[in-house]
Amino acid sequence: MQRVLDYLKQNESRSIQELCDYVRFPSVSAQPQHRSDLRACAEWVVKHCQAIGLQAELCATKGHPIVVARTPRAKAQGARRPHFVVYGHYDVQPPEPFDLWKSPPFEPRIEGRSLFGRGASDNKGQNLAHLKAVEAYLKTGTELPCDLTFVIEGEEEVGSSSLEEFLKERRADLLCDAIIISDTGMPTPKHPALTYALRGIAAFQVTLHGPSRDLHSGIFGGSVDNPAMALCQLLGKLRDKNGRVTIPGFYDEVAPLSAYERKQFARLPFKEAEYRKFLGVPALFGERGFTPIEQRSARPTFEINGLTSGYQGEGSKTIVPAWARAKITVRLVPNQKPARIIRLLRQHLKKLCPPSVRIEIKSGHGAEAYLVSPTGPQAQAALRALKLAFGCEPVLLREGGSIPIVNDFKKILRADALLVGLALPDDNAHSPNEKFDLDCFAKGQLMSAHLWQELSRGG
Ligand code: BES
Ligand code: ZN
Repeated sequence: MQRVLDYLKQNESRSIQELCDYVRFPSVSAQPQHRSDLRACAEWVVKHCQAIGLQAELCATKGHPIVVARTPRAKAQGARRPHFVVYGHYDVQPPEPFDLWKSPPFEPRIEGRSLFGRGASDNKGQNLAHLKAVEAYLKTGTELPCDLTFVIEGEEEVGSSSLEEFLKERRADLLCDAIIISDTGMPTPKHPALTYALRGIAAFQVTLHGPSRDLHSGIFGGSVDNPAMALCQLLGKLRDKNGRVTIPGFYDEVAPLSAYERKQFARLPFKEAEYRKFLGVPALFGERGFTPIEQRSARPTFEINGLTSGYQGEGSKTIVPAWARAKITVRLVPNQKPARIIRLLRQHLKKLCPPSVRIEIKSGHGAEAYLVSPTGPQAQAALRALKLAFGCEPVLLREGGSIPIVNDFKKILRADALLVGLALPDDNAHSPNEKFDLDCFAKGQLMSAHLWQELSRGG
């Protein structure tokens, strides 16, 4: 084992260069013009996996390709070896707005112990950390105590729509003891974390159609409805002053927080004033009766992600816009069903919509929340590996982000996910100037190296 750890240290600067190579691909899954960049990125991952000694293949899907890479299987020696699937994604969020980046998003830049670039933290750096750990085993001839299969997809940031079918097709090869995922966060560099819950999600697009074309607002304004105004009024009704979503039935199925969990949340490092400053807001806002940590990880929300209508260019243009559109996601907590929430939202919006505009609602991806007990032997093994790598006591987290595919892993492969994320709160995931902390990268590799030992022993 020491040889594995030494190898990781000796090869640190090369690994960082490789992460730069990985980040250079503009693998933006949401934008059709990047289709070939996603493919090129997936091919790079395949080649990289082959170079470190894995058997890797590129699997075509209706969407972006999935990379599958396996450790060479040792000959069966009596007892069945444990098998773990390591999941990650090579696609990234759109980098816009470009002008807020200090250096171009796909030209990685290292400053101190930070590597800047879109996808550095979410999720390229995190999945590369696991590949580096396995490389260290394979290149030093150290026997792995388990079999590993990497599944690295290209559609996580757009709802993982091809992966479910793929898991069904490949079920026999992918049956495993647990899924290991580093695509979540840790509160500070001194608080490595095991995440035991994620929020679910339901995505929508609401468009209000008004006049058949943009109109002169002086000539016609006042006699027709303004779709932008109507949309603002409509959306404004969906949240009350206490931060509660007003869609009837929205909270019906929400699993309440236990006193025990609330006590655990209260123990996490959190300073309200610092948090407010860090986010650059004049005051925090959230559902009344819950702390910010609870609000952002264990309570459902309604978020407008984008709002578009009318003239967006320089100067002014006096029009009544023909349409107005909002991109919306609702974050869900355990027991809330995306299909039901979509139905409730549709009904409610249609009821609220005035007759002066026509409403069009398109629903997108959806996923249930995820919750797993953090007390089982695999979770304990993950906590040991985190402690060995980071040298401090790990914490248990519920997180607000979503990884839609974890539920399919559970349903199709009947395996739980161990979420051992390496992202820091100031990594700027989905924001301009995303970065990955190179200490998290190094310690993540150590964690992965230890994890296989700990899981195979106790898990
Ligand atoms: N890595 C995130 C998910 C995440 C981040 C979980 C932080 C917990 C803490 C992932 O890449 C992501 O952004 N997922 C999307 C999913 C969506 C597009 C379906 C999300 O949560 O917005
Ligand atoms: Zn993401």
